Amino acid sequence: MSGFVVNQIADPTLYGDPQRLHQFYDWLRREHPVAWADPEGFRPFWVVSRHADIRELERQPEIFNAGPRMTLLPIPVEQANVAIFGVESGVFPLTAMDGAHHQAMRALTQDFFLPKNIRKLESAIAQHAAAFVARMAQDEGQCDLATDIAFWYPLRVAMAILGIDEQDEARMLRLTHELFGASDPAVRRPGLTEAEHIVAVKQDYIAFFDAITRDRQANPREDVATLIATGMPGGAEMSAEERLGYYVIIATAGHDTTAASIVGGMQALLDNPEQMALLKAHPELLKTFVNEAIRWTAPVKHFMRNVTQDYTLHGQTLRAGDHVLLSFGAATRDPEAFGDADQFRIDRALNNHLAFGHGPHTCLGQYLAKLEIEAFFTAFFAQIATIEPAGPPIYTEGSFVSGIRAMPVRYSRL
Ligand code: HEM
Repeated sequence: MSGFVVNQIADPTLYGDPQRLHQFYDWLRREHPVAWADPEGFRPFWVVSRHADIRELERQPEIFNAGPRMTLLPIPVEQANVAIFGVESGVFPLTAMDGAHHQAMRALTQDFFLPKNIRKLESAIAQHAAAFVARMAQDEGQCDLATDIAFWYPLRVAMAILGIDEQDEARMLRLTHELFGASDPAVRRPGLTEAEHIVAVKQDYIAFFDAITRDRQANPREDVATLIATGMPGGAEMSAEERLGYYVIIATAGHDTTAASIVGGMQALLDNPEQMALLKAHPELLKTFVNEAIRWTAPVKHFMRNVTQDYTLHGQTLRAGDHVLLSFGAATRDPEAFGDADQFRIDRALNNHLAFGHGPHTCLGQYLAKLEIEAFFTAFFAQIATIEPAGPPIYTEGSFVSGIRAMPVRYSRL
């Protein structure tokens, strides 16, 4: 008896306990590769957890649409979103768009995120990384690697790319945590229900980005905000909702995710000291380490798809109108796809994990994320000699983007 039920996939507390989470994922992949979930408070949905199956579905976007149901949200939150914003996901970002419209929208910023253009940012990112690691020196050998350092660094990079001033960063970080951590009572605004909280957070986002749009339309700059503010996808004016969704995805997609892989990658090195020693002795393994840290942490636990025509998978019929949760968290540890799937191996050469998704929605910022993580660890090993835990890590309780949210560490400088 495993003691698990499929509906636990919607329970935020499961994500706060990684050992249990991975036992759950193992059980799901093994026993119920296509599982029906009907948790209280949510519309029902299928769960697909095997690596090969997720790839199969992602390769057929005309059958498995990205919108309108994009992520797992409680019914009252979806209802509030529809009432106030007209879409159940609340914002209308790239991740909820389909077909030619999605392609035209993605094309607005796609070039910016290509490896050849991201490489131009290498030295600026290295400087940010070095500056953030140098902050650790000011903290007298002890800090919280997550809240003091790692959450701020990718945020700085994301804001620089968007073109948002440094003084507005703290506000953006708070809004992102509030958005992704809405189900966590420790994060939620006091006195508000989850639905009221999300609506309040979204309204703050709208106010913030409306001002940016007006500014960039009047004074274009060389930043992603200008591409969004002035973009004409397929030659047509963007709606206010689409524009907001674009800002929100660029502003939010890249920092908690990247931070979670940095902190989780460090935790994995601490848990596997032989891997830490290997990395120090062989810095040429940095790139495979970075990819393994992303597989290991899989910060984006799921996206959903909307079924447009009946489709049979492992004998189960997914009907038109049904919804499917793609469990990236489960797929990244699938033993059918990875040898020693439950081992953290920094020299893993074949590592086609699904932490960045697959198909037309594959993460736009994946080269940037990898560059940032690589730059962080380069700066870290250049400045820090030893590091050890100063308390247990604490994990976010959230079924969408989650990972370590607090990680007290002690360290010594080189
Ligand atoms: C989409 C993961 C960093 C921007 C996605 C998706 C995943 C993901 C799973 C959806 C893929 C799918 O549906 O198949 C991650 C992880 C990151 C990361 C794990 C860090 C380790 C970034 C960064 C940016 C970014 C740094 C930069 C702005 C985006 C955008 C999309 C996206 C714009 C939407 C693409 C589309 O729908 O066409 N990401 N991401 N991400 N990501 Fe990332």
